[in-house]
This record gives sequence, structure tokens and C-alpha cells, in this order.
Amino acid sequence: VNRTPLIAGNWKMNLDHLQAVAFVQKLHWSLKDAKHDDGSVEVAVFPPFTDLRTVQTLIDADKIPFALGAQDLSAHDSGAYTGEISGSFLSKLDCTFVIIGHSERRQYHAETDEIVAAKVQAAIRHGISPVICVGETSDDLEKFGASAVPVGQLQIALEGVPADAEIVVAYEPVWAIGSGQAATPEQAQDVCAKLREVIADKLGPEAAERTRVLYGGSVKSSNIASFMREPDVDGALVGGASLVVDEFAAIIRYQK
Ligand code: G3H
Repeated sequence: VNRTPLIAGNWKMNLDHLQAVAFVQKLHWSLKDAKHDDGSVEVAVFPPFTDLRTVQTLIDADKIPFALGAQDLSAHDSGAYTGEISGSFLSKLDCTFVIIGHSERRQYHAETDEIVAAKVQAAIRHGISPVICVGETSDDLEKFGASAVPVGQLQIALEGVPADAEIVVAYEPVWAIGSGQAATPEQAQDVCAKLREVIADKLGPEAAERTRVLYGGSVKSSNIASFMREPDVDGALVGGASLVVDEFAAIIRYQK
């Protein structure tokens, strides 16, 4: 299996564009000796929309080997959609990735599986890799077990996606997000393997082999290695710990 691990930092609604500059510079500096730019790990940061231009400029000027991503996008390409951000704007800011269907969007902004699917299509139209987030709440876990809900969410999100699309899938159990209570590596492996089966089913075996499936939910420097040892976990979507320079740098430097 030859998938480059992806360590993704979702800043959520933290760090304004002034704070972002200092943060990215410090992170880059603390990784200077880590050979994180030798291609063995891909690092991506997902700042708020208002930071994207600033971070893009900084990455470009200082040749910082971080990929850039947005936290959401509109399902529409342009027009009378006040407050929305088009995928075409994001691709012009060199966004490689866009998070779609994060549980906070599903929960606080009533994003349905169908909206998520439309946003996945929008990202692909604009050449941006969607990071498709799926995961069960603690209620779901009790009623249906761990995998039924994320599997169902991914099946809908992948409807009509071409087999050669560059996508990323993130398994984020809602009960593990920001709770300090991460899933066990075995739980993460079990669901990530099932999500890979969904990719195989919808997009074919080649796509399943190539596509990175991440785990997210209370990832920190002390547990990252245990997740990365699992064969179907190809990286992490990190929230809180991605905002602490030393923590995020240590996560990036994880050793298998
Ligand atoms: O997108 C990131 C996830 O929501 C995980 O957040 O690392 O703070 O638990 P967390």
C-alpha cells in the first residue's frame, strides 16, 4: 500500500489572519529539522476563509511545504447566494482541499447528506479534493453500532463521483470530537476499513487502494502513532491539537 499519510489541521473558527501568519511561521520553523518536506507526510492546514489569502501568500513566499484547504464551500458556483464561498474562489487561492460535511456543519447548519453530496460535486468541478467527513453520534453508536451511519453517509456523498476523482475521507465519530475521548485504534481501523469498502463499491478497487481515509477526534501527539499503525488509517484530521504549534509539530513527526 503506497498512500502518503496526510496530517490535516482544521483550525475551525480560530486564528484571525494576523494570528495565522505568526502561527504558520512558528510551525514551519519548529519543523525545520523534521524532514517533513521529504514527501513522507503531507501536511495541510484549514484556516477560516478570511485567512486563506494571507496563508496562501505566506506559503508561497517562504516556500512552506503545507497544502492549503478551506473548511467548507458552496454547492453553487456563483450568483445570488449571500455569504457563500464558491469553489472557483477557493481554487484561485490554491486550495488543494476542502472539508465537506464536518459534523459541526451537519449539526449547526443542518447540512444533510444530499447537501454534502452536492458540495462534493462542486469541489470536484473546481479541481479541489473534498475531505468528506462522516461519523456517528453517541446515540447512533448505541442504536446502530459504529459503522452503519458513516457508511450510509459516505454512500450518499460518493453518488455520481467519477472513479478518478481525488478525494479524501475522514472518519470522525462525533462523540470523539473535542471530547478528549478518542476512539481506540481498533475502532478507527474497523470503521475506516468499512469506509474503504464503500469506496471500492462506488468508485472501484483502484480508487479504494489510492484514497486516503483519515481518523479524526481527539487526536494528539500521544495517540497519533497508535492510529497510524492501523493499515486502513492514512492520516488524521486534527482540531484542537492543530492550534498548538508544538503539539501539531509532534503529530506531524509521529513515528510508526
Ligand atoms: O476536524 C477536526 C475534528 O473535528 C477533530 O477535532 O481534534 O478537536 O477532537 P478535535
